[in-house]
Amino acid sequence: MLLEVRDLHVEFRTRDGVAKAVNGVSYGVDAGETLAVLGESGSGKSVTAQTVMGILDVPPGRITAGEILFEGRDLLRLKEEERRKVRGAEMAMIFQDALSALNPVLTVGDQLGEMFTVHRGMSRKDARTKAVELMDRVRIPAAKQRVRQYPHQFSGGMRQRIMIAMAMALEPKLIIADEPTTALDVTVQAQVMELLAELRRELHMGLILITHDLGVVADVADKIAVMYAGRIVETAPVHDIYKAPAHPYTRGLLDSIPRLDQKGQELYAIKGLPPNLTRIPPGCAFHPRCPMAQDVCRTDVPPLYDVTDSDAERGSACHFWRECLHG
Ligand SMILES: Nc1ncnc2c1ncn2[C@@H]1O[C@H](COP(=O)(O)OP(=O)(O)OP(=O)(O)O)[C@@H](O)[C@H]1O
Ligand SMILES: [Mg+2]
Repeated sequence: MLLEVRDLHVEFRTRDGVAKAVNGVSYGVDAGETLAVLGESGSGKSVTAQTVMGILDVPPGRITAGEILFEGRDLLRLKEEERRKVRGAEMAMIFQDALSALNPVLTVGDQLGEMFTVHRGMSRKDARTKAVELMDRVRIPAAKQRVRQYPHQFSGGMRQRIMIAMAMALEPKLIIADEPTTALDVTVQAQVMELLAELRRELHMGLILITHDLGVVADVADKIAVMYAGRIVETAPVHDIYKAPAHPYTRGLLDSIPRLDQKGQELYAIKGLPPNLTRIPPGCAFHPRCPMAQDVCRTDVPPLYDVTDSDAERGSACHFWRECLHG
């Protein structure tokens, strides 16, 4: 396994008390594989990713347990200097908002080139050539001219391509894309997603794709991890989950995807709100919103049950996964 996160716990000290943002997350991704991480706002998707990248704000954040194995090495045990070498060269992150991730006072050529002058000791001239190559590669038209422009001179979709180019520059083994297309309009979203999937294939990278959008996941992901209140509640190969979810929360997410054949009908929404992370409900954290909840759900935290039916690995943290799967 390229990356393996094991039983990760992260909390934040807030004025309200300790917010338990990540509560025992385990997931993994192999070279050439795409893992999609799904879940409502506040479920801990980004905090988990930031912890993997080593960019968590500490404090207020605190990693209280877990391991992050990257090619077998626990990143949480590395010194900051070693960690910095991993970042950028071995793993890179793509954010939702390119405008704030890019430096507004440097041309995109200088920013892309910096990857090569700083990390690879290249001359400025060679780095500039590399920058143009990268811009071509992410299909920015007229790269040779546009390499001299500043981030604000690009459209949102083109800026996102530049951020992808930055992330790809050193050919990392792992890319984490945190809602990379959320700020774009729908057609541009699809193009950027396609580009990302294509580069992932070419470079045989592992990709962790964080998204709210179950709609985009089917086309690009190999497997899915669904998060709720800082835990993984379901994990499965992508096609299995669309066929039959094994957790009522996943079912709720699937039922809330707009469908063309149901135009005009009212869209299903999971009732209620995700919990306050300083006061996560006892038992299954989802029970107050769950249409299937029974007494046991209010008292006993469900483990991630092995739900494997074919040869693919599957897990569900629901006491009633059987009923959900076959119901
Ligand atoms: N710097 C911080 N200080 C305090 N709490 C934080 C901090 N960063 C994140 N949190 C809390 O951790 C929880 C998980 O946040 P996270 O950003 O991982 O959610 P998410 O699943 O990525 O949501 P979204 O879909 O909105 O991006 C949230 O309740 C958030 O308020
Ligand atoms: Mg997030």
